[in-house]
Amino acid sequence: MNTVNSVRELRAAVARARNEGKRIGFVPTMGNLHAGHIALVTKAQQRADFVVASIFVNPLQFGPHEDLDSYPRTLAADQEKLVQAGCNLLFAPSVSEMYPAGTAVQTRVSVPELAQELCGASRPGHFDGVATVVCKLFNVVQPDLAVFGQKDYQQLAVLRAMVRDLNMPIQIIGEATVRAEDGLALSSRNSYLNAEQRALAPLLQQTLQRMASAILAGERHYEALMTRHRQAIAASGLRLDYLDIREATTLHPATVGDSLVVILVAAYAGTTRLIDNLTLDLAAATDKPQ
Ligand code: PAF
Repeated sequence: MNTVNSVRELRAAVARARNEGKRIGFVPTMGNLHAGHIALVTKAQQRADFVVASIFVNPLQFGPHEDLDSYPRTLAADQEKLVQAGCNLLFAPSVSEMYPAGTAVQTRVSVPELAQELCGASRPGHFDGVATVVCKLFNVVQPDLAVFGQKDYQQLAVLRAMVRDLNMPIQIIGEATVRAEDGLALSSRNSYLNAEQRALAPLLQQTLQRMASAILAGERHYEALMTRHRQAIAASGLRLDYLDIREATTLHPATVGDSLVVILVAAYAGTTRLIDNLTLDLAAATDKPQ
């Protein structure tokens, strides 16, 4: 696997693969790779002939008091994992390579329809930062398809809308969340948790499962269901940001008639923000835990 740091080298390497008639798959990441990221690479390999991954801790998507400086940077270990996974090319640009004129004057991509609520409400500007960097990465890689984790459900919805609205000829694939044995969704930020917080964290997935069971058993008083479980999370020692039931595509508040709904949760364990979600296909009446 080749690692390149500049847009020029990246374009040249991808052009070579494309000239050989290869279909390009892309997995954008911020590094500190775990099994969840490797599942994205594996999915890209199944659907494409040449897999490009990127590692870039994007300053544009971090708020002023967030963990940009402390975000784990583990390039050498990540490169090894990508080699093992059979990735063909790694793009690992510097901040000045991605934002040569500086971040302040960077043209932004905004997906207002989906970016203001849920995670967007507590992380203002976050999804503009994500959409902007992914748009730039798409423009330099020009992949046929790109794979993202379903753990970041709202991010996936924002990026699908961006690709649709900007007529980008890129297939967006969502890959199921990889979990620890106790159900906690894998995340680079899990490494911030102390033992006590780590023991509390699986409560998020347990809550989603309990709510899903209730809905599958016929519960449609969504407000009451959310209130009960919000209280349970708040009483556990986690600090709840939101727990919401939404229509799965629009992310509008779910109504009784919706057949595809998603339960989304975000909570803080100490200062670490954890997210998770569970999609329910009520038409098929089978839950699809991710
Ligand atoms: O999900 C992530 O790791 C990031 O938000 C992404 C999509 C790589 C953009 O920086």
